[in-house]
Amino acid sequence: MKIKVGVDRLEYSVEGRQFVDSCYRLIDKDDDLSNQTDWHEPGYIVKDLFDETASSEFLSHIESLLRKKITAGGVSIGQKPIDQYHTLIKDYQDHLNVVEKTKLIESVELGKYFEILEKQVSEICHIPVVSKKPMNGERVFHFRVIRPNQADFNPLHKDAWQEENCGCINLYIPICGSNEKSSLILAKGSHLHAEDTFTRTTEGARMNNVQFNVPGLISSKLPLEFVRPNPNPNQILVFSPYLIHGGSINLNTDQTRISLEMRFWRKN
Ligand SMILES: [Fe+2]
Repeated sequence: MKIKVGVDRLEYSVEGRQFVDSCYRLIDKDDDLSNQTDWHEPGYIVKDLFDETASSEFLSHIESLLRKKITAGGVSIGQKPIDQYHTLIKDYQDHLNVVEKTKLIESVELGKYFEILEKQVSEICHIPVVSKKPMNGERVFHFRVIRPNQADFNPLHKDAWQEENCGCINLYIPICGSNEKSSLILAKGSHLHAEDTFTRTTEGARMNNVQFNVPGLISSKLPLEFVRPNPNPNQILVFSPYLIHGGSINLNTDQTRISLEMRFWRKN
């Protein structure tokens, strides 16, 4: 089944067993951390992160961590600009080896920035939050690495279609190559649509012959308003896990897009 995305008229095929849920809003059943905010309706917000000095320190910490992980994935990046990652990759398997090392990174590797981010997201939600998965106590984050014009991106989905992500809030930080042609795509306000308006796969979708963990959106009865909020360097994007998002092809010709992604839950 081909799905057409409004942003950049992207088209890709999603395979999987089709499923339509009953008429209710998933967000009403769970802990909605955007509920007390003035960005509840769009379901996302872009905010500044640090002042200039702190921002360059943060990026330099993140860059050196990233270089370590890419090297551990078998790619010798040396001091090459990190947005040139794609020029070092021979084939998809090379890329998958790096993906293995750039996901599920222990939050302790963020050093002092782990607590700073928790505090910042707590302020944005007006609720104390922690980056600790209730299901297993995991404290992790991911780097999402998307090469230009390659099918490295997720299918469109809601994180909350996977039970382990219910009740969280998502953070996206642009690290490199994240711009109007590559940053995360969101369907504004889609967290307020009833579940029976979506046709999706029951389990992880298969897209462009790659198996993903998340169920993928196949179609929507209501029109979806796709946006790329495109946070600048030193800005963060915070968004609801009940929002449809993904499908974020990188349309740059010569820049890999890398973002830092993390989830937070209510602090008990
Ligand atoms: Fe997601």
